[in-house]
Amino acid sequence: DRNNTGQLTKYYDILKDAAIYYYKNLRQNESALNYLNRRGISYETIKKFGLGFSNDAWRNLLDKLKNKYSISELEAVGLCLPNKDGTSHYDRFRNRIMFPIINPKGKIVGFGGRVMDDSLPKYLNSPETDVFNKSRTLYGLNLAKNVLNQKKQLIIAEGYMDVITLHTNGFENAVATLGTALTSDHARLMKRYADEVVLCYDSDFAGQKAALRSLDILHGIIEKVKVVVLGENLDPDDFLKKYGSEAFKEKVETALTGTEFKLNHLKQGYNLNDESSKIEFLSKAVSVISEIENNFEKNLHIERLGELLGVNTEMIAQEVFKGQYKKE
Ligand code: CTP
Ligand code: MN
Ligand code: MN
Ligand code: MN
Ligand code: MN
Repeated sequence: DRNNTGQLTKYYDILKDAAIYYYKNLRQNESALNYLNRRGISYETIKKFGLGFSNDAWRNLLDKLKNKYSISELEAVGLCLPNKDGTSHYDRFRNRIMFPIINPKGKIVGFGGRVMDDSLPKYLNSPETDVFNKSRTLYGLNLAKNVLNQKKQLIIAEGYMDVITLHTNGFENAVATLGTALTSDHARLMKRYADEVVLCYDSDFAGQKAALRSLDILHGIIEKVKVVVLGENLDPDDFLKKYGSEAFKEKVETALTGTEFKLNHLKQGYNLNDESSKIEFLSKAVSVISEIENNFEKNLHIERLGELLGVNTEMIAQEVFKGQYKKE
């Protein structure tokens, strides 16, 4: 049985050996150290996150580990790949800054690797393996879980650098979903550690779309969900470097509720000076408000919408509550 505990333990050993190799290797690579230095990452942070470097070579890791483990084991954890005709293998990660992905039990389950220039793909991640399931993994949770006893709030970012910069700025409750959309498995994992989730995605179009999607996934699993919008196309890493941690703290404290975020997002698509556009927005906004479960919150948004559009709130309320009374 390939999935027995002994085999899994072996896989964790391999990944740990690989991480140690990448970590030591980084210390010998000036350009990689310079890259991290340019991005504001200190030695202390390198150590805390176990960052490493994979050389620009085809079989450095393989050569290092091939006497200790079999090729098929190295392949099973995603560290090497067979070449086209299957006659030999090569290292998956080459010439990349290495970010070990560590589960809450402290086991390395995979890696992300970033190029140091503009080449693509910018990040390469371990494939799904017997020990790495992307839709159930949150980067940084191994560290974040230690601070979630007092304040059970998680900040969700998009990427490796966001988590690292958030932690070094005192936001040690930050984690990230890595290159995959947030899933209900992620949501249930979050629920084990937190009762409030603050989405803090990149403020580009993709990030804002992702926030809308995540709100739907989190609904019904996490009771309290908020959304931070950073603006200026910044991600948390950029924002913290530009404005600092006090400004970020302020952003978290004034984060939008899910409904506020949805309505703001919706509004952007309409010209409220145009009558037909305004009516369309109004009816879409009414359906967003109708989904709110709490009647006080519903009424709050009815008031706000009436004020924004200069429309009678009684009329909006009638529309919002129409569906509700029908159901009862
Ligand atoms: N990602 C990925 N594969 C890619 C691009 C992105 O897995 N080809 C994941 C990575 O986890 C990355 C996250 O999506 O950290 C967010 O992507 P992006 O915003 O493009 O990168 P940043 O995290 O901002 O990276 P950096 O600041 O290093 O440029
Ligand atoms: Mn992004
Ligand atoms: Mn609900
Ligand atoms: Mn980003
Ligand atoms: Mn970034």
